[in-house]
Amino acid sequence: MNPLAATAAALVAPGKGILAADESIPTMSARLAKAGVPPTGHNRHAYREMLVTTPGLSQGISGVILCAETLGQRVSDGRPFPVAIRELGMLPGIKADTGTRPLAGTTGETVTEGLDGLAPRLRRYAGAGAMFAKWRAVFRIGPGSPSAIAIRANAQALARYASACQKAGLVPIVEPEVLMEGDHSLSQCEVVTSLVLLQVTSELQDYGVDFGGIVLKPNMVLPGSASAGHATAGQVAVATAAVLGALPAALAGVAFLSGGQRPARATENLAALQQMPRIWPFTFSFGRALVDPALAAWRGEDGRVAAGQLALARRVAMNVAALEGRYNPEQDFAPELA
Ligand code: 13P
Repeated sequence: MNPLAATAAALVAPGKGILAADESIPTMSARLAKAGVPPTGHNRHAYREMLVTTPGLSQGISGVILCAETLGQRVSDGRPFPVAIRELGMLPGIKADTGTRPLAGTTGETVTEGLDGLAPRLRRYAGAGAMFAKWRAVFRIGPGSPSAIAIRANAQALARYASACQKAGLVPIVEPEVLMEGDHSLSQCEVVTSLVLLQVTSELQDYGVDFGGIVLKPNMVLPGSASAGHATAGQVAVATAAVLGALPAALAGVAFLSGGQRPARATENLAALQQMPRIWPFTFSFGRALVDPALAAWRGEDGRVAAGQLALARRVAMNVAALEGRYNPEQDFAPELA
């Protein structure tokens, strides 16, 4: 197996998922403030250190996605974050995009930027210890959106990024996210996600990207958060598996994002997805659905690090149970977690 395929296979190894702890400084600051924690650099560092040093984290986590700020920092014992993560039995990764900007020619749509200077930046990240990278494209369902040009522009950027990653020896995590926000139905989300994935696949093929060295990070297919409709986990799993049907068999694996679903709901849907016939590993690459309970339990207090770590370990254990067919939603839907 070539080194990229080996890293990609390790990221989607049985019984393991990926921890997304790569929020940009503004996003992380907003999440800290919302949790009542002063949004300082000190607290961002303390929070990330709490997450990655959670005892036993590598039992359910294959890799941790960091933002550039954290990649260059050290944990309290002096080891750089990527070194500590490796020594704790996980793979360090990095967010490589620089966020969304308005896409000219559209009404309110965005394109994800970060292609300028990407190749040298990826080489620097690899030199700092990153083994994989992530790029998130965002699509909003609304009247007239996503438009064909927004789908094309974002899919092409994902493919250029993925190609540059593989040249730099990094496994690309390719993340096209159709947002849950909106009043659309499950079937509207299914159609849009399917169009987006077809375009992304076609661009990846045109750029000659090696699918064996890619992890796809899509949204689950869900009704909009403002829609009246509710979908069961079984309905979500069927619709989600359907949109993945056109992906190449060579793809290393699929790691779903949580997209703002409540933690237990994301886990229940992940468990249902394991029941679907498929040819790739299905796992999780959750941000909020793993870390929100940890942030709430920690509250920015030194004396509550163990409580924060326990909350993260519990969510990881629930998601591993989902991967292994042992998940029991009745034990998980505690009011504060659901
Ligand atoms: P969520 O699981 O919170 O959607 O985050 C995943 C992610 O990496 C967003 O880019």
